Amino acid sequence: MGEFCTQEEYCRKIKKVIITKEQIAEAIEKAGKQIDEWYDGRPILLVSILKGAFVFMADLCRAVSVPCEIGFMCAKSYYSGTVSTGVVKITMDLDRDISGYHVVIVEDIIDTGRTLNDVVKMLKARNPLSLRVVTLLDKPDRRLVDFNADMALFTIPDLFVIGYGLDCAEYYRNLPYIAEYDQEA
Ligand code: IMP
Ligand code: MG
Repeated sequence: MGEFCTQEEYCRKIKKVIITKEQIAEAIEKAGKQIDEWYDGRPILLVSILKGAFVFMADLCRAVSVPCEIGFMCAKSYYSGTVSTGVVKITMDLDRDISGYHVVIVEDIIDTGRTLNDVVKMLKARNPLSLRVVTLLDKPDRRLVDFNADMALFTIPDLFVIGYGLDCAEYYRNLPYIAEYDQEA
């Protein structure tokens, strides 16, 4: 897709819905309850990795009942087209010291695992009380580093997906469902 695309091209590339908004909502309700069980009334800091996790964060934080603060950081894994180049850069950091917090990283998708592997190493070095990772999607077939989330809401095959925060060239983040992206269309 070029820098701009027509409405027709935009729609043509949405190949198939693979996770509906109802399925996402149901999984997030369960995830919220799991987080409540993990922390049992203790306060937490949810840390969302921008931009992809912003929609998931907005829904997940409202499914949690323990006292909860939210924070954002921006980690960019550089892409050429739909293929990760393996270069991860923190372009915006958290606005506070996380020592003294039970931290839950909220991520959109774990693909090669490089982004979260780097982010987790970096945040652990700041001595949080504890650190867990919750990801909306997991693509285990494409893993290049040994990294696993504490909770993955959906495990998906090796497809490039869009929607619910996930983009292709910055488009489609606003789709309310997760769809397969059609590279050939
Ligand atoms: P990793 O470092 O390879 O695990 O890549 C993680 C990041 O790549 C995610 O946070 C997404 O921003 C992006 N990514 C990986 N797979 C997809 C996909 O299928 N669709 C959209 N973005 C993806
Ligand atoms: Mg991301």
